[in-house]
Amino acid sequence: MQDNSKLKTQNSKLKKLAVLVSGRGSNLQALLAACAGGELAGLATVTLVISNHPDVPAQARAEEAGVPTLTIARAGYASKLAQQQAIATALREAGVDLVVTAGFDRIFDPAVLREFSAPVMNIHPSLLPAFGGGLHAIGDALAYGVKLTGCTVHFITADDAVDGGPIIAQAAVPVRDDDNEATLAARVLAEEHRLLVQAVACWCAGRIRVDGRRVLLQI
Ligand code: GAR
Repeated sequence: MQDNSKLKTQNSKLKKLAVLVSGRGSNLQALLAACAGGELAGLATVTLVISNHPDVPAQARAEEAGVPTLTIARAGYASKLAQQQAIATALREAGVDLVVTAGFDRIFDPAVLREFSAPVMNIHPSLLPAFGGGLHAIGDALAYGVKLTGCTVHFITADDAVDGGPIIAQAAVPVRDDDNEATLAARVLAEEHRLLVQAVACWCAGRIRVDGRRVLLQI
């Protein structure tokens, strides 16, 4: 039986968030805006942004908001594991309460996840468990011909498969006959921004209860 006690909110102070990014950073922007004057104001603050690629737009967004950023790229380390351990160390040193992977394009080794000092929440652009495990969820959903897709916020744990961690929240987005990847992605992305902020707010406010695989929210 899996122990999910680490996923529960630990206490009631202003929560320190770390956001892991790889590119555009629009979900990061949604979190920054929510901390500055929205749903997360008084609940959370983004204290660290880590990118695994140099000079991505997400880092510029963080710098604009005055949030410290780190680039921990594969090229700077002897192995993928060493790079991921450096991320775990940076998170521990920053004393973060919650890690959010928002458009992070790599899968963490379970051994490294066990070293993480905080729970990890991920946003994925499909209704999991459909179209998980990759970076092409929107195109895959469109090509498959589903009439309904959407987004999922879930925990990442060392014990679950990729994109298989306990589901925190989901939002559905109907697929239109005239959709292409760009139009569908835009509508899913708008839902991602809303859902991610809502899930983080629930966790920070201690309104999440984890019962095995079931995550119960008091919204
Ligand atoms: C988002 O659509 C996110 O759900 C997706 O990457 C995009 C990042 O956008 N993540 C995945 O596909 C993870 N498997 P953003 O950088 O603008 O937040």
